[in-house]
Amino acid sequence: MKPQAVIFDLDGVITDTAHLHFVAWRNVAAEVGIMIDEKFNAELKGISRMASLERILHHGGKDAAFDLSAREALAGRKNALYVDSLSQLTPQSVLPGMTSLLHTLKAQGIKTGLASVSLNAPAILTALGLQSHFDFCADASRLKRSKPDPEIFLAACEGLKVDPARCIGIEDAQAGIEAINASGMLSVGIGVGLKHADLLLDSTEELTWPRLEAFWNQQQRACASSH
Ligand code: G6P
Ligand code: MG
Repeated sequence: MKPQAVIFDLDGVITDTAHLHFVAWRNVAAEVGIMIDEKFNAELKGISRMASLERILHHGGKDAAFDLSAREALAGRKNALYVDSLSQLTPQSVLPGMTSLLHTLKAQGIKTGLASVSLNAPAILTALGLQSHFDFCADASRLKRSKPDPEIFLAACEGLKVDPARCIGIEDAQAGIEAINASGMLSVGIGVGLKHADLLLDSTEELTWPRLEAFWNQQQRACASSH
């Protein structure tokens, strides 16, 4: 039996926006006298906008320096810079193999979903020319809890009308792998150093349907033999 659905994170899986987030955050952090580098930025992967700001303020020892409205203003400035930079995205910015994987899954009758906490996800999909490639995109604006909580992956399963136990989730962030695992789906991690992924691949180039199918079948056999 095939999986019912494959549910994708967006940033770092479908396209690489981490650097654009970094440049925007670096500007806003510098405004308030905090320096961040790419290594620190890696810790912000999969983390929501406000939670990212809180981590940056903490990193600079300025947790208590800004009240809620000042934080909202900083987050708003970061987002304006980030949204400006999204004009660089084109269909060529889709990570290697991902458009073809989405087509193959459709041809195999496997549903596709998106589980991104980015409020800019609809604009990014449009810029990439992928807006009609997903059967369901979970709405980040309705989330009560960000990753590593499984809420967004469960919302995607609900929207697709599938059973999480019969789905695969794909992520490039540690918080995302934890969210997938907590949802009861099988987790596939993209990139080095991720912990607890059921399958870990170096890049999206390795993320093909034959690879996913072999992984799925192996997991089903392991599950059957343990019962
Ligand atoms: C993704 C990125 C994070 C980003 C978050 C919110 O998860 O990996 O770095 O903070 O989305 O994005 P947004 O576009 O709503 O600010
Ligand atoms: Mg990501």
